Amino acid sequence: MKVANTIEEVQAQIAAWKADGLTIGLCPTMGYLHEGHASLMDASVRRCDRTVASVFVNPIQFGPTEDLADYPRDFEHDCELLEAHGVDLVFHPEPSEMYADDFCTYVDIDVLSKTLCGKTRPIHFRGVCTVITKLLHIVDPDCIFFGQKDAQQLAIIRRMVRDLNFRVDVIGCPIVRESDGLAKSSRNTYLSPDARRAAVILSRAVRLGQDLVEAGETDSRRLTDAMKAKLAEEPMADPEYVEAVDGLSMQPVETFKPGDLVAMAVRVDGTRLIDNFTVGDPKISFE
Ligand code: PAF
Repeated sequence: MKVANTIEEVQAQIAAWKADGLTIGLCPTMGYLHEGHASLMDASVRRCDRTVASVFVNPIQFGPTEDLADYPRDFEHDCELLEAHGVDLVFHPEPSEMYADDFCTYVDIDVLSKTLCGKTRPIHFRGVCTVITKLLHIVDPDCIFFGQKDAQQLAIIRRMVRDLNFRVDVIGCPIVRESDGLAKSSRNTYLSPDARRAAVILSRAVRLGQDLVEAGETDSRRLTDAMKAKLAEEPMADPEYVEAVDGLSMQPVETFKPGDLVAMAVRVDGTRLIDNFTVGDPKISFE
């Protein structure tokens, strides 16, 4: 596995692979990798001849009061995981390699970025769309892989790729969970043992939502109220939102249908966690 710190090194390797007619998969990450990320690598290795992973904590997707400085980093461990999962090239640039001092060109997306996480993270998706645009230009992959845990991010990237005519297949991969149901996330590392125990309330609320859908519920308000009541059973949990939205436009729906998204963001002892389910997907299970 090669590690490249510069855009030039990546582009030279990509050119050599393309000259050999090889297909390329790209898995963008911010590092501190876990099995959720590993599932993206596995999907890429299965589908493409060569897999590139980026490990880059993208400063422009963090708001001024967010956790950019504290975001967990462990590049050595990341490389071990990436190598074990068959990644061929890791792109690990410094922020200055990606953003010149006078950088001022952003890719912004309307409508889809205004709901759910976009309400409290107003510049987040602009930062994500900008860095993904840059990575798509640098790596020029055939396929790009994202986790369904960040369902709004996935919907936004799909829309951006369609609207701006990028020639890449966007592949969404299922949420990977701990055995008690908690969705794997680099931010789980912030949780104290008590908060970690409390955090299972998110997946319990997801499962309750899925049970209600299976029982025939189609009213968004009744569904999300029941899920909020479940979250309220845990005193350490402070919900930011629980909402049902159209699976493509991310706009609120009153009555939901298969393919719509039921998503939540919840602070557990101060750590912001997200979880979701797509209506019609298999129910989650946990111990
Ligand atoms: O999901 C993430 O880890 C980040 O938002 C991404 C897609 C790597 C862009 O920085």
